[in-house]
Amino acid sequence: MAKPRIEHVCTECGHAALTWQGQCPGCGAWNTLEKRAAAPKAGGTKRSRSRAGAATPTPLRAVEAERSARVLSGIAEFDRVLGGGMVPGSLVLLGGAPGIGKSTLASMALSNIHASGAPTLYVSGEESAPQIRTRAERLGEAALDVPVIAENSLDAVLATVEAERPAVCVIDSVQTMAVGEGTPGSVAAVREATAGLMDVAKRLDVTMLLIGHVTKEGSLAGPRALEHLVDCVLHFEGERERTFRTLRAVKNRFGATSETGVFEMREGGLVEVADASARFVGEASPAPGSVIFCSMEGTRPLLVEVQALVNPTEMVPPRRTATGVDRNRLALVLAVLTRHAGVSLSAADVFVNVAGGVRVDEPGADLAVALAVASAHSGRALETDGRPLACFGEVGLTGELRYVAHAERRVAEARKFGLGRVIAPRPAEGSVDGLAASATLADAVRAARARGRLSAAA
Ligand code: TYD
Ligand code: MG
Repeated sequence: MAKPRIEHVCTECGHAALTWQGQCPGCGAWNTLEKRAAAPKAGGTKRSRSRAGAATPTPLRAVEAERSARVLSGIAEFDRVLGGGMVPGSLVLLGGAPGIGKSTLASMALSNIHASGAPTLYVSGEESAPQIRTRAERLGEAALDVPVIAENSLDAVLATVEAERPAVCVIDSVQTMAVGEGTPGSVAAVREATAGLMDVAKRLDVTMLLIGHVTKEGSLAGPRALEHLVDCVLHFEGERERTFRTLRAVKNRFGATSETGVFEMREGGLVEVADASARFVGEASPAPGSVIFCSMEGTRPLLVEVQALVNPTEMVPPRRTATGVDRNRLALVLAVLTRHAGVSLSAADVFVNVAGGVRVDEPGADLAVALAVASAHSGRALETDGRPLACFGEVGLTGELRYVAHAERRVAEARKFGLGRVIAPRPAEGSVDGLAASATLADAVRAARARGRLSAAA
């Protein structure tokens, strides 16, 4: 008899390696490989496998495409991020930090779906039924009609889904589902629970909305393999203390991943912020260190306020803190500012923050970060005819400003709110009305300073 094969499987991503290694070759995590007996290969040798039951390839033209209607949650921002609602029988993972509003969003979606006549089920392994009721009471009368079970045994949940046949089922949260006697939340349990739920989802055409907690670092707690199993992964983000929340798709088998929905947490649940630009521009402070960034969130332009604070320090190395923008991007922008625009920051702490708890991930945010820091450094508030200064553009390592897409739409959004003459790199072709083009970061800093006003405080 053949010796059982041993393999080393990563508990984070499921990668299987033949030998033990300190770092997983699959995901780069450390000390995550665990020794396991490999499952015997079906069919023995390669040759005999290829002979047994060969599949017949079909030309794609002959394959019947799925055209089933999507399940609409009635929450426009949620449906838009999903690419037009949930696909029946799909698994959607909604990840976010504790307290951000995942249960609230899921309850609201389910309440609308239930009201539209489709059978629903809310499974909570986290809260008791009375607790869920208390939340639902805040969300309105219709939310109280949704059937709920407070249950964390996967078998019981699967049996209930089989019996009830909901069209849409919420699992809150996938980390609380216990498989057999095992502890819930372990990597194996989360994967097995997801696999079990996926099986009923596909078999009975149940749309599953799985809620997952994320760790402080922002990754979904438990195995990354979970992200491979599900059809869509949504991240619900924001600062807990602030009211704004953003919802974005990081994976979507049925649509784009570029759309972002903006919500505000209010007393009666989450409210969609359809015109987020107006809110953010309205809240912008005409103070040194504040500029408006014309960003693109998917297909939609969005104006957000980027704020910076520059403060002399004795600390070595000085502090660099970024909220809402990438730390590495901030380091790059500060280096270019120092080297090519003469803004010396070596003896200063620098803090950068995107107001409202929004995250901006595109390189087009570089110029906004740079001008906010330059403004904070000089103590001059930047404005155009009494309105905050608007800008966008990527900063290159040699100090040049690089073109970013959708210049017209960004500028048009800024003009809509009376923010004239947006500082930006030269557009790819022609000229854009209301855009003040700069070739380099130094030019942009000069152009911004020319509009600066020495603040009363400085
Ligand atoms: P919750 O949805 O329970 O967060 P999560 O499931 O992500 O852990 O709600 C988070 C917070 O939202 C909670 O502190 C209470 C607050 N909240 C409101 O402000 N208004 C409301 O209508 C509801 C239902 C909750
Ligand atoms: Mg919750």
